[in-house]
Amino acid sequence: MTMMNSIGFTTDRNETEAKRRADMAARGFPMLDMPNLEFTPEVAEATQHLYERVKDVVPAIEWPFHAPYVKAINDLKKVRNAVILAHNYMTPEIYHCVADIVGDSLQLAREAAAVDAKVIVQGGVHFMAETSKLMNPDKIVLMPDMKAGCSLAESITPEDVRGLRARYPGVPIVTYVNTSAAVKAECDICCTSSNAVKVVESLGAPRVLLIPDEYLAKYVATKTDVEILTWKGHCEVHERFTGKELHAYREDDPAVRIIAHPECPPDVIAEADFTGSTAHMIDWVKKNAPEKVVLVTECSMADNVAAETPGVHFVRPCNLCPHMKRITLPKILDSLVYMRSEVTIDPAVIAPARAAVERMVNLKN
Ligand code: 13P
Ligand code: SF4
Repeated sequence: MTMMNSIGFTTDRNETEAKRRADMAARGFPMLDMPNLEFTPEVAEATQHLYERVKDVVPAIEWPFHAPYVKAINDLKKVRNAVILAHNYMTPEIYHCVADIVGDSLQLAREAAAVDAKVIVQGGVHFMAETSKLMNPDKIVLMPDMKAGCSLAESITPEDVRGLRARYPGVPIVTYVNTSAAVKAECDICCTSSNAVKVVESLGAPRVLLIPDEYLAKYVATKTDVEILTWKGHCEVHERFTGKELHAYREDDPAVRIIAHPECPPDVIAEADFTGSTAHMIDWVKKNAPEKVVLVTECSMADNVAAETPGVHFVRPCNLCPHMKRITLPKILDSLVYMRSEVTIDPAVIAPARAAVERMVNLKN
């Protein structure tokens, strides 16, 4: 019988959690208690050098909340032999204060393959954690929030890909990294926004299916002679920008530079001075140091770059990714203390999905 206890968990659920923790202990990860999370003078002193990195983008009044988590996470990473891989959309206190490796999707996939630790905590969304797991089937990959998904990954299923194969026999299928491992397993090769043109051209085919992001596919089609077929998936964050709103910023100040992500619709890209992956956008800002710039992407990107480029004024519009924003310091700490939630992949899809990612990672620059 299932009964509710005083904190609202069912007895069954408590038993399952106790069993899971006992399994983790048997795998060499002893059960730990949640550390003390007071903002003591010792915590302030131990984290002061990290606050220096984010002081321009994290208000001083917020630091006493973040600092105990930052210290506890950095201490626990050593205990658990863990590294944190963080996407460029993580908030500054994650990106600058607890992450070991930061980057765009391609950099994270590459770095995941080279990680020398027993545990990877993914600062990002579920498909990124799956990519880390594909590159490290023997390591433990933890997601601080399993609900951190992605509208692009949700837009296509393995059955959809099989349908495309049947409809376009002989046409190679490139999958954007923003897909589930099960979808990757049905495709020939993976790509990210930083190498999509190169991946498409590497196939030597006159016609290629590039799925599931319609706008990325349209952007790639403007950069290659290969005919690109696509799918109707969209990023819910980037599809909300419009060329009209960006044009208004330019009219307001003709000197403003507009830098867009290729998941944006074509009218937005037409307004942009530069289009590239999140890592390429960051590089562009650091290299060109514009006086005023609009980063047409997720909001935390501007915060993370602003922390390192004090001379640049970032004009916002930006859109928040509700999935990326599910990852917080308290949830990362919870992952490390309780060793949850572990990412697993259907064994039947691991080899073909990994092959699609490896083909991309192994392409020469
Ligand atoms: P990149 O960081 O690879 O450019 O991807 C952006 C993105 O939306 C990831 O979800
Ligand atoms: Fe997916 Fe868009 Fe969020 Fe990236 S920003 S995780 S593409 S919904």
